[in-house]
Amino acid sequence: MTTNQTVAVVGLGNIGQAVGTNLSKSDRIFIAADRNVEKAATLAEQWGVNAKASDIASAVKNAGIIILSIPFEAVAGFIKDHENDLEGKIIIDPSNPIAPDENGGFKKIIDANNSAGQINAASLPNGAKLVKALGTLGAASLIKAAYQAPEKAVLFYANDDTSVDSEVEDLIRDNGFQAVRVGGIDQSIRIEVFGDLHEFGALGKTVNLAEAKTKI
Ligand SMILES: NC(=O)c1ccc[n+]([C@@H]2O[C@H](COP(=O)([O-])OP(=O)(O)OC[C@H]3O[C@@H](n4cnc5c(N)ncnc54)[C@H](OP(=O)(O)O)[C@@H]3O)[C@@H](O)[C@H]2O)c1
Repeated sequence: MTTNQTVAVVGLGNIGQAVGTNLSKSDRIFIAADRNVEKAATLAEQWGVNAKASDIASAVKNAGIIILSIPFEAVAGFIKDHENDLEGKIIIDPSNPIAPDENGGFKKIIDANNSAGQINAASLPNGAKLVKALGTLGAASLIKAAYQAPEKAVLFYANDDTSVDSEVEDLIRDNGFQAVRVGGIDQSIRIEVFGDLHEFGALGKTVNLAEAKTKI
């Protein structure tokens, strides 16, 4: 259990805005942070009273659970810049290690057998816990499939420290999805782009719990 359950969404691009939109439909109070503080304020106002706009440094200090919705290439530098304030915290990592290719598609920018989850987990400060989550769907599906009824769609996650599972599953629930753990961080590759459990991999779509159980 962490002592601080406050969530900060850091980086309000496609994924950060999808997560903020989803969280704003729950009763969770959360911090919305971006290096453009005016943008954070505008979005927080749209999201309602539960969203509190912040600069990034204050958000990292004040939150116990940090959704790092920034590009994969920026994650290592971010962790280094904020290492003291990230100690002991839960870091939710949706990143995909991809870049545009020459054919208008995307290519992986790390070794084929490696994952962003494993790389990012290896650079964490003391006691910080990385959870690979919130990146298994494209941003459009992350909004469109949220709060689906009668059966919620699944969001997969992977992590090594299972003591934080309940916090992670609550966060996924407050995004309007059913959480399904696939295993340790070494399973991240399965839920990143091109992985067998990713919307832009072999899975190819959103799934409900019964379908998810047949896949993992
Ligand atoms: N888009 C998708 O469908 C999708 C799906 C699954 C996972 N993901 C993953 O989610 C992450 C975010 O993707 P996205 O599509 O939301 O990207 P995006 O729209 O480009 O937004 C990225 C956000 O991160 C901020 N940022 C960049 N470098 C930063 C730094 N060094 N420090 C602080 N903030 C920084 C950007 O701020 P500025 O505007 O100031 O540059 C922007 O607010 C990526 O790792 C991506 O692989 C994306």
